[in-house]
Amino acid sequence: MKVDNNAMNKQKTNVLIVGSGAIGLLWYSHFALNSKHSINCYLYQSAKRKALPDEIKFTNINDTTHVIHSNIITQPKSPMDIVLVCVKSYQLNQAIADIQSIICPKTLVITTHNGLGALNTQSNQYLENNIVLNMLTTHGCLKVADNEIKHTGAGISHLGVKFDVAEKYLESNKQKDIRDLLHTILPEVVWCDDILSKQWLKLAINCVINPLTAVFDIKNGEVINPEFTSIIEQVIDEVVAIGQAKGISLDKVQLIETVLLVAQATANNSSSMRCDAQQKRETEIEYINGYIHKSGQELNIPTPKNTELYQKVLALTF
Ligand code: PAF
Repeated sequence: MKVDNNAMNKQKTNVLIVGSGAIGLLWYSHFALNSKHSINCYLYQSAKRKALPDEIKFTNINDTTHVIHSNIITQPKSPMDIVLVCVKSYQLNQAIADIQSIICPKTLVITTHNGLGALNTQSNQYLENNIVLNMLTTHGCLKVADNEIKHTGAGISHLGVKFDVAEKYLESNKQKDIRDLLHTILPEVVWCDDILSKQWLKLAINCVINPLTAVFDIKNGEVINPEFTSIIEQVIDEVVAIGQAKGISLDKVQLIETVLLVAQATANNSSSMRCDAQQKRETEIEYINGYIHKSGQELNIPTPKNTELYQKVLALTF
């Protein structure tokens, strides 16, 4: 594992945030405010993307607003210890390609996005010498403007070794180091030995809430209405069948319960997919219901409901 204890303890730890969406700026703001003198945190500016703002207006969970200077870099002078990639699933491969010259073998790469199957062969090659972690987060954060975010709900981030990059051994003291560091910056951070199961649970939630809220143009809370009960059951049945074929054991009743709880807990929110569809932006559908659809084709398992929702969401943004 490449989180070098010396670097962590004696020298400054260099952290790069890639992605200036709500979650990227949430982590950047917390690093800027909470990391004292032991960490240099930078925001990555891709040459291909619009210029990042010089300052970020960050309103925290207690409604206090901070104006934070953006420490922007395009090409770091010193090696990065941690690169936190907070982009949408469909932007992930481009982001990894953009930063491949920044990633050295000691860099710990952390990705955080919805869905499964987002890393392509090329990205896997770029990352073959690195420890790659996946972070699933339940923090609520709203991007009010290009330079303004609001932390709307305190959540939990689960961190574990990413399954679709050749799994590398990560010693438990190093797991603790990285978990502790991130937890100090933006709690709660929990280490998870089986992040893949968590990813499937999140996938099931996203397979239901995201397309239904986008297709029917509703808030998350409306998903619990009885008119959606049979669709939810079919979607989850198919997710369970695909999971099982891939060696992931999922419990249908528990999954449905969790989906409904999440819909209730986020009742007044618009899902990320509904927001994307409303603004005619690309959605993460390829890696959510699209992942179930494509896996079904590969495994010869019918997934009619996920396929239908996949196609309906695709049609929304054409
Ligand atoms: O993508 C989203 O919006 C979220 O993952 C979730 C859980 C569906 C809540 O809105």
